[in-house]
Amino acid sequence: MDIIRNTNAISEWGASRRRQGSTIGFVPTMGALHQGHLDLIRQAKSDGHSVVCSIFVNPLQFNDPNDLANYPVRIEEDRRLLEKVGCDALFLPERENLFKGFEPERFDLGSLDEFWEGPIRPGHFQGVVNVVQRLFSFVRPDKAYFGEKDRQQLTIIQWVAKQRRWPESIIPCPTVRENDGLALSSRNLRLNQLERDAAPVLFQALTTIANNAFDTPVAVCLAMGRSIMEKEPLTSLEYLGIAHPETLEPLRAWPSSVGAIALIAARLGSVRLIDNLFLSNPRA
Ligand code: PAF
Repeated sequence: MDIIRNTNAISEWGASRRRQGSTIGFVPTMGALHQGHLDLIRQAKSDGHSVVCSIFVNPLQFNDPNDLANYPVRIEEDRRLLEKVGCDALFLPERENLFKGFEPERFDLGSLDEFWEGPIRPGHFQGVVNVVQRLFSFVRPDKAYFGEKDRQQLTIIQWVAKQRRWPESIIPCPTVRENDGLALSSRNLRLNQLERDAAPVLFQALTTIANNAFDTPVAVCLAMGRSIMEKEPLTSLEYLGIAHPETLEPLRAWPSSVGAIALIAARLGSVRLIDNLFLSNPRA
């Protein structure tokens, strides 16, 4: 696997692969890689691309300086994992190099950042979209792979890509879970043992909603989910809601022609976890 730290060098790497007839698949990450990230790489490989994974802890998307300071960094371990899954290039840009001559832009996100993570993490999605556009401008991928675990991020990137007519295709990939249902996340590394044991309660709340969705009123489903969360004293619930799958607007009644998404965020000690499940509509 090639390790590339410079923006011009990654553009040149891509151009040279293209001259050899390859297409480029891209998996942008902030490192501390887990099976969820590795699945994105595997997906990109099985789609036949030369695959670039970037690791860059993007300061623009952290509104809490403690969160940025505590974000896990494990480059050597990440490098080994990427080698094992056959990633072709690891792009490790330095902050100064990636942002040289760069002025962050204010993107129109429609109303997609008005709910869920948006009000709790002001500026977060602007920071994500800015860095994704910046990374794309150097990597120039044909396809970029994003996990459904960060549903709102994925929806926003898909929306901006469409609005701005970005040439890159955005490929959504399913959430990877531990056996007990906990969604894989780099933040799980920061849970202590008691918190780790409690963490699957988020998934239990979501599956209870999924098991009752479209048969039981939305408010009753949400009350069921909340009561599951309340039984776990180590968690503090930030939100639990049901949203329209495209606009992400909170729903008070089940839609007739589309599915829905159940979304949750909760704190366990100092660690904030998010998760979501797609709820399929049996009548759609
Ligand atoms: O999902 C992430 O890890 C980050 O938000 C991303 C897309 C790499 C941008 O920094």
